[in-house]
Amino acid sequence: MNGNDDNSGFYITTPIYYVNDVPHIGHAYTTIACDALSRWHRMRGDGTRFLTGTDEHGQKIQQAAEKRGMKPIELCDEVVMNFKKLWKALGISNDDFIRTTEERHIKVTRYFFEKLMASDDIYKGLYEGWYCVPCETYVPDAQMGEDMLCPDCKRPLARMSEESYFFRLSKYQEALIRRYEARPDAIMPRVRYNEVMNFIRSGLQDLSVSRTTLKWGIPVPGDERHTVYVWLDALINYISAVGYPEPGGKWESCWPCVRHMVGKDIIRFHAVIWPAVLMAMGLNPPVRVFAHGWWTVEGDKMSKSKGNVVDPFEMVDIYGADSFRYFLLREVPFGNDGDFSELGMVNRVNSDLANDIGNLLNRTLQMIEKYRGGCLPPSAVFERSCDADAALRGLAEKTLAGMDSQMSDFSMDGALKTLWVLIGAGNKYIDETQPWKLGRDDPDDRLDIVLRTLWEVLRLASMLIFPFMPETAARMRSQLGLEEDISVERYPDWKWGAHLEPVSVKKGGVLFPRIDIPKWKADYDARMKSRAEALSAGSGNVSAVSFDTERKPAIEIDDFKKLEIRVARIESAEKIEKASKLYKLGLDLGFERRFIVSGIREFFTPEQLIGKKILVLCNLKPAVFRGVESNGMLLAAEARDGSGEILSLAVVDGDFPPGAPVH
Ligand code: MSP
Repeated sequence: MNGNDDNSGFYITTPIYYVNDVPHIGHAYTTIACDALSRWHRMRGDGTRFLTGTDEHGQKIQQAAEKRGMKPIELCDEVVMNFKKLWKALGISNDDFIRTTEERHIKVTRYFFEKLMASDDIYKGLYEGWYCVPCETYVPDAQMGEDMLCPDCKRPLARMSEESYFFRLSKYQEALIRRYEARPDAIMPRVRYNEVMNFIRSGLQDLSVSRTTLKWGIPVPGDERHTVYVWLDALINYISAVGYPEPGGKWESCWPCVRHMVGKDIIRFHAVIWPAVLMAMGLNPPVRVFAHGWWTVEGDKMSKSKGNVVDPFEMVDIYGADSFRYFLLREVPFGNDGDFSELGMVNRVNSDLANDIGNLLNRTLQMIEKYRGGCLPPSAVFERSCDADAALRGLAEKTLAGMDSQMSDFSMDGALKTLWVLIGAGNKYIDETQPWKLGRDDPDDRLDIVLRTLWEVLRLASMLIFPFMPETAARMRSQLGLEEDISVERYPDWKWGAHLEPVSVKKGGVLFPRIDIPKWKADYDARMKSRAEALSAGSGNVSAVSFDTERKPAIEIDDFKKLEIRVARIESAEKIEKASKLYKLGLDLGFERRFIVSGIREFFTPEQLIGKKILVLCNLKPAVFRGVESNGMLLAAEARDGSGEILSLAVVDGDFPPGAPVH
């Protein structure tokens, strides 16, 4: 299985999606892109396999389930249906759908762990560090800013220390560099290649691959207090889904041609950790990891609290799956970030779909009906083609090869542009040949040649458009009078004029009705208004507030007695230079004065703090933050609402004397 990469097969995967949330445009984008690529490869006749699925373990899912009073698996079972429904609505042609809670996956994850332990690529050690719960990642000290927040999601980090199994990532640093130097197209686009290479060259550290703090995960074989780190568990899906390590399993043909499509945020997991794990297992690293960009929405970052999350179901309802697919794949150079605007989509529907391709089909069929009673004579007429016909034919013959090379670079926008050059040329050809002026009984058959040429361009266009807009392709074919299902077609078999028989066209409904902009705008404004109303109604609602529900093991009363908690009066609150989140608080404890450093500056002004009687843990060992010594820690309640983190200090009422102990 260590054989060379196989370029005749095409196995493509999407990331597996977390089930703590409803599917949004980001999920739809990756999956639509993989769908177009895999449909393209099937049409080429390549052995093609397309996998998607869901990532169901980990803290995020456990917490989301607790918040809804459900067992994690109940939440997974419910949310996975939303993904499956969406893929159906979007016309996604995946061959398989993997869930990481399935036995076929759990078994393989444990097998990986056992094998890596046996080869000493995984060893047991102690991990201590700053951990981001939402991202489920430890943040290396070098990446932590002065604000002590997660560099990715900007949320507070928690200090964690745990016994852990480690993967010897550092051991694979040189092998990874060598591989990527030899195969620069293994990470695309170039900007991501450079980013990953810089990261690897800056030095790889061994990776903690187990957790003792998390129950909702796959138990480590032989040491069931640990669960497998959710990212390792997740990455393994790509190979567990194709039956690894069974001899004769699908993986034997799929693995040498595996390509991963991911968003740019998760490139390192796929282009650093995963290939190293595969090398350690004696398996081929992926042929390619392609990282696409991120969508903003109407110029703004997409977020639930802003209420601007694009719901793909809604887009399909309003515009149809194909228009939505087309817009996403055509609008931005694949790999770059893009901005999603509904008006932008409407404009593209009107210009590219209604005007360009819709008109080409409509005009051609109308003329065939009007001048030839809906029936075209055999394609033998091409023998008498003139220059204009031959030029369009030449362009058509080049289009397939051009698109094929762009698709092999995952340039879906480029391939669509190439196709649209042909469509534009078809419309121009009608304007220039003016079929309505050609004599119907011309002995040179000019009218038949022109109509056949247009029909032939449309036949090809319907095949080439299929990977991007499958429903549209099927509608075009039936209107063109092609009875056979498009799935029987193969690009290498396509030949100009191969369809020799006479054809009867069946003009149907308009492919893409023009969207009336003023009417659309009124509907759009009404939708935005009701969305804003729903959002503000929700934000006044207690259920919009969430908090950490992670439970801790029971303790003895003696454990509690070790804590010295006392009332303290805040006397001063000074900002600490170069630490935007921190205050140095001066406290009166009755029997003494002391200072603590506290990260509450973004929540309170000094005026709101001074004079307050708060609760302080007094016997915490001193620690130094930004050069200031802290002697204790204040107690506060913490939660999140639509605006982010919220905080309330634990205070005591009335005249209670500073220094009084809390039991
Ligand atoms: N579960 C992990 C992936 C594990 S793969 C072994 C995960 N899941 S996710 O559901 O959070 O995200 C899945 C994908 O959605 C990522 O590739 C991410 O880049 C993509 N997107 C999320 N928001 C996006 C946009 N706004 N725009 C484009 N894609 C974005 O990460």
